[in-house]
Amino acid sequence: MTPQRTLVLVAHPDLESSRITAHLTSAIMDLEHVTVHELSAAHPDRRFDTAREQELLRGHDTIVWQFPWHWYSVPGVLKEWMDQVLTYGFAYGAGGGALHGKRLQLVLSTGGPESSYAPAGHNRFTMEELLRPLDATAHLCGLEMAEPLILHSAPRVDADELGRHAARYRELLAPASVAAR
Ligand SMILES: Cc1cc2nc3c(=O)[nH]c(=O)nc-3n(C[C@H](O)[C@H](O)[C@H](O)COP(=O)(O)O)c2cc1C
Repeated sequence: MTPQRTLVLVAHPDLESSRITAHLTSAIMDLEHVTVHELSAAHPDRRFDTAREQELLRGHDTIVWQFPWHWYSVPGVLKEWMDQVLTYGFAYGAGGGALHGKRLQLVLSTGGPESSYAPAGHNRFTMEELLRPLDATAHLCGLEMAEPLILHSAPRVDADELGRHAARYRELLAPASVAAR
């Protein structure tokens, strides 16, 4: 059986200033079947090489969007990637089935605690509700969206907790766990 290939798109506006995204990225860097692709580095002038990005997508079975939660959404660099790469005729529309049947895994961190993402909480809505635009995007592209891996209270997690979370992330990307779904 061909091993499942995983493409991790790391979307952070400034990875050098990141604690969580940087740590999680280094925790999965050595996985053999995983390609780590840092989006800010891939679009220095705010333009992606659409053909190259689409080739990368074609060559992998699972796509991971790894990002910090910014203003109840993805960071701008991931939104720009979507706008420029998920084009008509490739990701959706006539002839646009390149992503059909692939798997989408969201891996994100939030500043707010889990309890704040509730109707009576500080952020008013659940993460499930706030992630609906991404769910709809996945659906339009024929991607099967997996249960998101979320680290809440990011600025307050200590080193042990971050280490355990990184271990869960590695497990999630293990070829056996990907193949079993
Ligand atoms: C521009 C910006 C917007 C943010 N918006 C949110 C938000 O809407 N909700 C939230 O819970 N945290 C928000 N945060 C906190 C980040 O999600 C948190 O600091 C991040 O997950 C930590 O990851 P990092 O160390 O990789 O940057 C925001 C942070 C920044 C810089």
